[in-house]
Amino acid sequence: MQTIRELDALRNCVGAWQAAGDRIALVPTMGALHAGHMALVTEARRHADRVVTSIFVNPTQFGPNEDLDRYPRREAADAAMLESHGCDLLWAPEVATMYPAGFATNVSVRGVSETLCGAARPGHFDGVATVVAKLFGQVQPDVALFGEKDYQQLAVIRRMARDLDIAVDVVGVPTQREDDGVALSSRNAYLGPDERIAARALPRALGAAADSIAAGDPIAGALLEARRRLSEAGFTPIDYVALVDADTLQDVPVAKGSLRLLAAAWLGRTRLIDNLPLELN
Ligand code: PAF
Repeated sequence: MQTIRELDALRNCVGAWQAAGDRIALVPTMGALHAGHMALVTEARRHADRVVTSIFVNPTQFGPNEDLDRYPRREAADAAMLESHGCDLLWAPEVATMYPAGFATNVSVRGVSETLCGAARPGHFDGVATVVAKLFGQVQPDVALFGEKDYQQLAVIRRMARDLDIAVDVVGVPTQREDDGVALSSRNAYLGPDERIAARALPRALGAAADSIAAGDPIAGALLEARRRLSEAGFTPIDYVALVDADTLQDVPVAKGSLRLLAAAWLGRTRLIDNLPLELN
């Protein structure tokens, strides 16, 4: 696996693959890779002849008081993991390559970006949409893979690709979980031992709410009970617990159709998110 940091070299490499008729997959990441990312790489192999993974800790998607500085960076270990999972190319640009002097463009996706994490983290999804649009332009993948753990991000990127006529298949890959149900996340590394145990309450609260809603209980009561469980486990504040339409991410008045149950809440200095699908007739 080669590591490339310059745009010209990336274009030469990808251009040669395209000329040979290869189908190209992109797995965009911010590094600190774990088994969840490797599931994306493995899935990417099923969709394409060549797999490119990008590692770029994108400053524009972090708010002023967020964890940009302490975000885990371990490129050598990431590269070894990628190589052992059959990744062909690591695209690891510097900040100045992604955002050269004079950079002035912002991609903003209305609607799906504005609720949930978008409300709690103003500007976050503009940063994500802008950098992913750039990555799509740079790598020109046929298919791009994203984890469903960041469900709203996936919805934003799908909307952006549709709206901008970007010819890429955006594929969502189910959340990978530890044995105790906690979703794999690079931010789990921030949790102390007690917080890591408390984190189990997040998938459990969502699972209980999903069961309750599927059994016909009122949505509001089920969401309130999930909040209560999270508070009891030590999560504070709770940014949201919500049941939304799986495509538009708007609240639903009745529990019917393709839905998503999502939550975001803090354990100490760490903000955790999780979500579950809910299909109801
Ligand atoms: O999910 C992530 O790691 C990031 O938000 C992404 C999609 C790589 C954009 O920086």
